[in-house]
Amino acid sequence: MCGIFGIITNQDTISVGNIVFEGIKRLEYRGYDSCGIVSLSNSKLYLKKDSGKIDEIQRKINLAEIPNNSKLALAHTRWATHGAPTKINSHPHLDCHNKIAVVHNGIIENFLELRKELTQNGHIFRSETDTEVIPHLIESQMKKGLNFKDSVIESLKLLKGAYGLAVCQVDNPNSIIVARKESPLVIGIDEGKTTYCASDIPAFLPLTKKCYIMDDDELAILKAGEVEFINLLTNEKVKKELRTIEWSIDAAEKGGYEHFMLKEIYEEPTAIRRTLKISKEQLKIFANILWSAENIYITAAGTSFYASLAGKFILTKFLGKYIQAIECSEFQTQLTNSLKKDSVIIAVSQSGETIDTVEAIRWARSYKDVKILTITNVVGSTLTRYSDNVIVTQAGPEIGVAATKTYSTQVLTLALVALEIAKLRKVELESDIVKYERALRSTPQIIENFLKNNIDLIKGIVDTLDKSAQFFFLARGISIATAKEGGLKLKEVACRFIEGYSAAHAKHGPISLVRAGFPIIFIAPPDETYQRLIGNVMEFKARGGKIISLVVESDNVIAELSDLTIKIPQPGDKYHNIFSPITFIPALQLLAYYASLLHGLDPDKPLNLSKTVTVH
Ligand code: F6R
Repeated sequence: MCGIFGIITNQDTISVGNIVFEGIKRLEYRGYDSCGIVSLSNSKLYLKKDSGKIDEIQRKINLAEIPNNSKLALAHTRWATHGAPTKINSHPHLDCHNKIAVVHNGIIENFLELRKELTQNGHIFRSETDTEVIPHLIESQMKKGLNFKDSVIESLKLLKGAYGLAVCQVDNPNSIIVARKESPLVIGIDEGKTTYCASDIPAFLPLTKKCYIMDDDELAILKAGEVEFINLLTNEKVKKELRTIEWSIDAAEKGGYEHFMLKEIYEEPTAIRRTLKISKEQLKIFANILWSAENIYITAAGTSFYASLAGKFILTKFLGKYIQAIECSEFQTQLTNSLKKDSVIIAVSQSGETIDTVEAIRWARSYKDVKILTITNVVGSTLTRYSDNVIVTQAGPEIGVAATKTYSTQVLTLALVALEIAKLRKVELESDIVKYERALRSTPQIIENFLKNNIDLIKGIVDTLDKSAQFFFLARGISIATAKEGGLKLKEVACRFIEGYSAAHAKHGPISLVRAGFPIIFIAPPDETYQRLIGNVMEFKARGGKIISLVVESDNVIAELSDLTIKIPQPGDKYHNIFSPITFIPALQLLAYYASLLHGLDPDKPLNLSKTVTVH
């Protein structure tokens, strides 16, 4: 779960050092415990790397400063898996004679046996990483007399596991070789001049909008302004579609906000408006498949799982069928003996690369004749390859490690499918469906109004709760998803301990923690659970809990019982309540964001986390 970036150019006027540095910085969200750059000039590799965040390393060793005449460079930002985040374990990794350099994202599962064999053959290893076997394997193939390309191909055949990698070699200064298996890799091109490789598109977006998305088991030979693709399974050349990226770089950079997280919260209305435009045809395909399905599952990880919980609730209402939500890491374990063929599985993943989600789907596909419906934010991501039908949410690139706008667009997409089902099934009055649709379409405006008027209130609440290290986020019904997701945000970016729980269930244990001043955030839209939630608020209040409530504008019951109240400017009718997971969540995201700042943390880089989790 790292970021890689590479450049090869024939242009004298561009500064390769600055480009590679800026490129890898735009990938820092993928991992930020060490970083390195290798450049090639005068038949020599120049390596600079260290542990720490990129800016710290830049200050220490001036990463961006590479020999003036370099036309080729590779860079890497690391999230440690094998070996501690130290200088020696950071990438790029070299062979014994410093002639081959490799940057790698993924995990080589058989690295121990390869390392043993290579060591026995005289190779000297410097790091504890799995990656380092790769330059040594290439070195040993080249020693046998194979050329650079064939050496890489033969080495890849020996690897088990996942990789997105880029390699350069001193005697081949006019090419970079890249390959992909289960770890993302994209190629940007300024034709005839410069070629880039990266783990994600924003890395080269300010430089070119033209790109190729690599598939698994593909290798590419990058030359300045040209690229050739080879299928590693057939050894044949592949012709790939050159895509034009529509995002502006503003969408991928901070655009005036202090942090990506804040920018991305403010982008929610736009992201929702774009996602509301998903084609009816795609929604109908999902709706028809779900309507005719016997067994339906929904699976995801983290925030995407909580979006799935909210979405499952909305879908069930209009579909009238049970949908089982299972965390992706538990999917196979729980369903090995019970997954029925003809099941439909909805997979939800922002990145489309989360290994547990990909594996759950891969397993289900190979095990039974099932249908996979995927909701992701990334076109061409791994998950989409195992899916029968895909809807791409239109959140745009999300750089902040904590998911924000992708959560609301995931819930929205599931809600759009649910309304399509309602139309098919005709169980709701047509006039009611129109009102639900209107309510869903009003969500961006509600969020905009909230963002306009409530920032000081949120900051004030954060100040009041300054000393609290533990929180409950409680709710009933559909809002349990909001409680869990809101709590997860605070946990991730502000390092507070939280429990996101069913308000009713909290009586069966968690309530024993409550003492005077213990903060409890109740998510309380006035839906069918509201009256009973009042009882739960009373229970916690009676024990001295500090009650913070999230309610609609017109609320005056729970608001009265609360010490602090956040009001979401929306009507309290059933049409709006069901979509409250979308309109209520920005308040909790902001709470987490400002709490993070108050505690001197960087909300874009939560401790121990990475945006895309590609390890089990
Ligand atoms: C939390 C967060 C993670 C991801 C999870 C799944 O803010 O971002 O919990 O939601 O790692 O990632 P995707 O959605 O890419 O599968």
